[in-house]
Amino acid sequence: MKQLKRVKISEALRLASEGEEINVKGWVRTRRGNKSVGFVALNDGSTINNIQIVIDIADFDEEMLRLITTGACISVNGELVKSQGQGQSVEIRATEIEIYGSADPAAYPLQKKGHSLEFLREIAHLRPRTNTFGAVFRVRHHMSYAIHKYFNDKGFYYFHTPIITASDAEGAGSMFEVSTLDMNNPPRDKEGRVDFSQDFFGRQTNLTVSGQLEGELGAMALGAIYTFGPTFRAENSNTPRHLAEFWMIEPEMAFYDITDNMDLAEDFLKYLIRYALEHCREDIEFLSKMYDGEVIDRLNFVVENDFVRLTYTEGVKILEASGEKFEFPVHWGTDLQSEHERYLVEKHFKRPVILTDYPREIKSFYMKQNDDGKTVRAMDVLFPKIGEIIGGSEREADYNKLMNRVKETGMHTDPIWWYLETRRFGTAPHSGFGLGLERLLMFVTGMTNIRDVIPFPRTPNNVEF
Ligand code: 4AD
Ligand code: MG
Repeated sequence: MKQLKRVKISEALRLASEGEEINVKGWVRTRRGNKSVGFVALNDGSTINNIQIVIDIADFDEEMLRLITTGACISVNGELVKSQGQGQSVEIRATEIEIYGSADPAAYPLQKKGHSLEFLREIAHLRPRTNTFGAVFRVRHHMSYAIHKYFNDKGFYYFHTPIITASDAEGAGSMFEVSTLDMNNPPRDKEGRVDFSQDFFGRQTNLTVSGQLEGELGAMALGAIYTFGPTFRAENSNTPRHLAEFWMIEPEMAFYDITDNMDLAEDFLKYLIRYALEHCREDIEFLSKMYDGEVIDRLNFVVENDFVRLTYTEGVKILEASGEKFEFPVHWGTDLQSEHERYLVEKHFKRPVILTDYPREIKSFYMKQNDDGKTVRAMDVLFPKIGEIIGGSEREADYNKLMNRVKETGMHTDPIWWYLETRRFGTAPHSGFGLGLERLLMFVTGMTNIRDVIPFPRTPNNVEF
């Protein structure tokens, strides 16, 4: 085959210079045609759009042509010409074709179009090759980049927090343990309990549920940091919004109070959505056409409107007065379920909502305590279709108040002694929040199951790919 520079299909489709000889490589999406001419839709992942390859059957080896079936990978040399057909501006008239890898039509699972999302989850090793997942994963990339760009441009430092920790940041206790002990025959102490002093780290360890505690150490030195990494929760909640392994972005800022924190969260989300509308337009339009015709309207709506800010107490009053039949009854003191959050956002305010000042009993130990003795300076950002997309707070900066709360909740101080020291040495007012990347992606793509916005979802009983 003649050596030509490979051009990505996204580039080729933009090329105006007809008559140019180029090389493209990619996977066959469809092949149709007749005895004399074949049409191949080729995709290489660089764009949702395929490029059409036109093959003059008489010019090629029959054996080779037989291998050009859906799923096969090919390399094509040819001339870029104006397209005769509809739906594309240019196509490639093939002069040479090389088969990199065939895909037996009898065995290739993506032979036909229109598979259900459920079926595609069972072939997660191949689903990135579909239009849907190509689009979703390109959006995921662009959002990740935009997150780094946003914080970098604002002077925040990317601070790497550990994945293996000895502490429980959320105090919730649903953690995956990390151990190299022999589970069938672990060493035991005098009381018969597993002796973690003989484990790899010399103590009990787990996968992190949040980088926040370490992130606060960063903020108390660098001023403003963010983390962006995998986070693990062993909750057995099989919902369309929960993963056992998800990616979280956690900014933490010295000298920010709760209002600064809310302002940042709102600005950040609007920036990301604007970025998606600008840089992922074709992919989102495709997803909108396929799954959710209102997604672009929702994105524009969020960018154009102020978020409503109100307290948990006010929110509960609205819910109680709503007359709505909720699956979980609601009164002051209960943790809000997604049905309550969505009622406030979708039915009552019809706008994103930031709820603040939650009862301290349902929130984490580190949140700043209000003077009323009942509530803490928490903030949850609630989105249409999603419910909670961000959770955060101003932090308790007072050593004694923090210690009281640690004791009240029955937490051990031993695994977090280093965290408590931030309040002894140069403590400062500070705030932060956590954005779940997959929740953001659900909102931006309109996908309704969180398993469909991460390449390899981890949920109970699901870890095959
Ligand atoms: O509200 P969460 O639990 O807050 C924290 O972990 C804090 N340490 C954050 C902080 O203040 N630095 O989680 C934050 C966000 C949620 O709003 C949600 O978007 C996402 O993380 N999230 C999950 N996403 C997918 N699957 C799960 N199991 C999630 N749990 C939380
Ligand atoms: Mg939360």
